[in-house]
Amino acid sequence: LKTLVVQIRDNAYPLFVGDRALPEAGVLLSSTGFSSAPIVITNETVMRIHGRALFRSLREGFGTPSRIIIGDGERFKNRATLSRIHDGMFEARADRHSWVVAFGGGVVGDIAGFAAATYMRGIRFVNVPTTLLAQVDSAIGGKVGINVPQGKNLVGAFHQPQAVLSDTTVLRSLPQREMAAGLYEVIKCAAIRSEPLLAFLENSVTGVLEHEPCALEHVVLETARIKSLIVAADEREKDIRMLLNFGHTIGHALEAATSYRRFKHGEAVAWGMVAALGVGAEAGLSEPDHCSRIVDLIHRVERLPSLNGISFDRVWSALQRDKKAYSGAVRMVLLRSIGEPEIRSDIEPSCLRRFVRRFLANGGRLG
Ligand SMILES: NC(=O)c1ccc[n+]([C@@H]2O[C@H](COP(=O)([O-])OP(=O)(O)OC[C@H]3O[C@@H](n4cnc5c(N)ncnc54)[C@H](O)[C@@H]3O)[C@@H](O)[C@H]2O)c1
Repeated sequence: LKTLVVQIRDNAYPLFVGDRALPEAGVLLSSTGFSSAPIVITNETVMRIHGRALFRSLREGFGTPSRIIIGDGERFKNRATLSRIHDGMFEARADRHSWVVAFGGGVVGDIAGFAAATYMRGIRFVNVPTTLLAQVDSAIGGKVGINVPQGKNLVGAFHQPQAVLSDTTVLRSLPQREMAAGLYEVIKCAAIRSEPLLAFLENSVTGVLEHEPCALEHVVLETARIKSLIVAADEREKDIRMLLNFGHTIGHALEAATSYRRFKHGEAVAWGMVAALGVGAEAGLSEPDHCSRIVDLIHRVERLPSLNGISFDRVWSALQRDKKAYSGAVRMVLLRSIGEPEIRSDIEPSCLRRFVRRFLANGGRLG
């Protein structure tokens, strides 16, 4: 088991990563300063597969935890579920000293963290992420929230967890497509910050997808380290944290143009990274060797859902909406070379337009 200390302002909290983190949750969290039994918030799927291991360990450490089970899926990350969670917390007689364990993927982490941030003006919470995406990304950084009819994640808060506990063996039950979606986030972090992590992935991508314990532990720990350093430098997303949006501009537009049905978010970001590398190459900014290393790695993970039939007009109008959000210019994170990203809002609209049209027509092939 490895421990990393995440330091955000004057707050430091431990991140435990390893293949025995769940059975040791009781001991690890006692050492972090908790004493009463927590309220575990999870969904039915995660509860069914991994609930027993977590509850046994928490029971040994703290006595029997309360539990609140929510529905499985993004569509449950809403106000109705949030109210149900708050009601459950009142029923469990939670007070200002109580603490929450968010046990699940990014959906559970976001809504349970937000419930903790808002209950009695904020109580403590611990993240126990169970998807690769959550372990490397959403559980770290303190962004919590819900979706509203006006858009995704538009109601939320910054609320840092007291600890994050990532058990890499729970990922064995994760569908392969979810593993892949998380791995694209890993590739993104490597591309913007760490050539060694990218080189490691080039050698070990198969091992990671086949749950080789050392490879997986290394990848989760390193990506979490990168994400936590970026968040520590810029908790409120003023500048550096925006680099994490590499692949997001065109990725979001692809998601919107397909009504959020065709791609998992990570898959759309993967296509978005390929596109951003293409834009960078055309602008003469991106190092060609570095581009092709990243593109090749992305395509080794799994077969991405195709871009067939996606309407250029819909992608373009989604990009225009994005542009409005950033006062007039399409803003993209481009890559000079691995580890050297750059935020650009001076991309010539006619060039971008031509590029996106060709990118869609060529099914995502650059060249
Ligand atoms: N807060 C942040 O900084 C941040 C960052 C990125 C994404 N997010 C949010 O994260 C969410 C996506 O998270 P996600 O990709 O983890 O999706 P998810 O939480 O929906 O989990 C994916 C699926 O896997 C199941 N699952 C979870 N753990 C499992 C396991 N160990 N074995 C088998 N099945 C398991 C879940 O029940 C679900 O069906 C989105 O709502 C997104 O907005 C937040």
